[in-house]
Amino acid sequence: MTAARPRVWVSQPLFDDIVARLETHFDVDATREVADHAPERIAEALREADGALVTLNDPVGAAQVAAASRLRAIANVGVGYNNLEVAALQAQGIVVTNTPDVLTETTADFGFALMMAAARRITEAERWLRDGQWRGWSFKSLLGADIHGSTLGILGMGRIGQGIAKRAAGFGMRMLYHNRHRLPEEVERECRASYVDYETLFAQADHAVLVLPYSAQNRHLIDAATLARMKPTATLTNIARGGLIDEAALADALAAGRLAAAGLDVFEGEPNVDPRLLALDNVVLTPHIASGSLATRRAMVSLAVDNLIAALGFGPDAGKPRNAIPHAVLPR
Ligand code: DGY
Repeated sequence: MTAARPRVWVSQPLFDDIVARLETHFDVDATREVADHAPERIAEALREADGALVTLNDPVGAAQVAAASRLRAIANVGVGYNNLEVAALQAQGIVVTNTPDVLTETTADFGFALMMAAARRITEAERWLRDGQWRGWSFKSLLGADIHGSTLGILGMGRIGQGIAKRAAGFGMRMLYHNRHRLPEEVERECRASYVDYETLFAQADHAVLVLPYSAQNRHLIDAATLARMKPTATLTNIARGGLIDEAALADALAAGRLAAAGLDVFEGEPNVDPRLLALDNVVLTPHIASGSLATRRAMVSLAVDNLIAALGFGPDAGKPRNAIPHAVLPR
């Protein structure tokens, strides 16, 4: 009698040709339509699974794995993993992996583009033109803020933050950053970025960009007080997670002209967007696509598949998935 093959659940439609690599080792239960799975549905899908490939759409925590006695690995297709209760999963012996590095450059490209679109009012100008409002060239219409020669403030100076800094150097920007830990001097030199405290970053930035990991501890970090520190001519761009910003306070600041513009790729209640933000012209809104080039999304799935195969003890890296998230420190 041959032993049953391990089973894996794939929570969303990804790229079939890449996901098919899982079939070499496992029986695969692949979701065919984009799904907003209820928590109970996730628990049910995991109950008989040995492993799972999930995305930021799929929250997995203690409740979802309580009855999943065979589950040994969860591979997240994304670098951010705030959809997972990592400590609870690890406490149950489940290996958790993510997909860093492969999306760094694409995401930095997009962050820079979003910042530029907000500063130069690109989507607002396009709406205005399509609306038939362009009835003659006017010297003073749709004036924006310069990127070149301005001060960039990067909050979160990991791989993507550093990627943005490298792009900004080409635009002659002065670069400030704030991070949990100050970077080694040679990295600061390479990025041409100076470390400043949180308050200085927001007070001095002409363009602030958020690129830090999200957790319950930094929810609404960018609140009315932080926004009040910013120059009224400044822009704020978020490609990290929506929960970092108090969106009501941001809408107030944008509506009152206390902040010039914002570029938002992420929202607290995705896919729902605060109706006040939808109604404002001085905010560029995109549906969480910063890592969304075809090549990068394929690379992310490929890496997650490799991680899952390795975490479940197969393939060249058996038992040593490249991107295992280190063990969370459990509260005493
Ligand atoms: C990530 O990887 O965390 C992105 O937000 C989703 O692509």
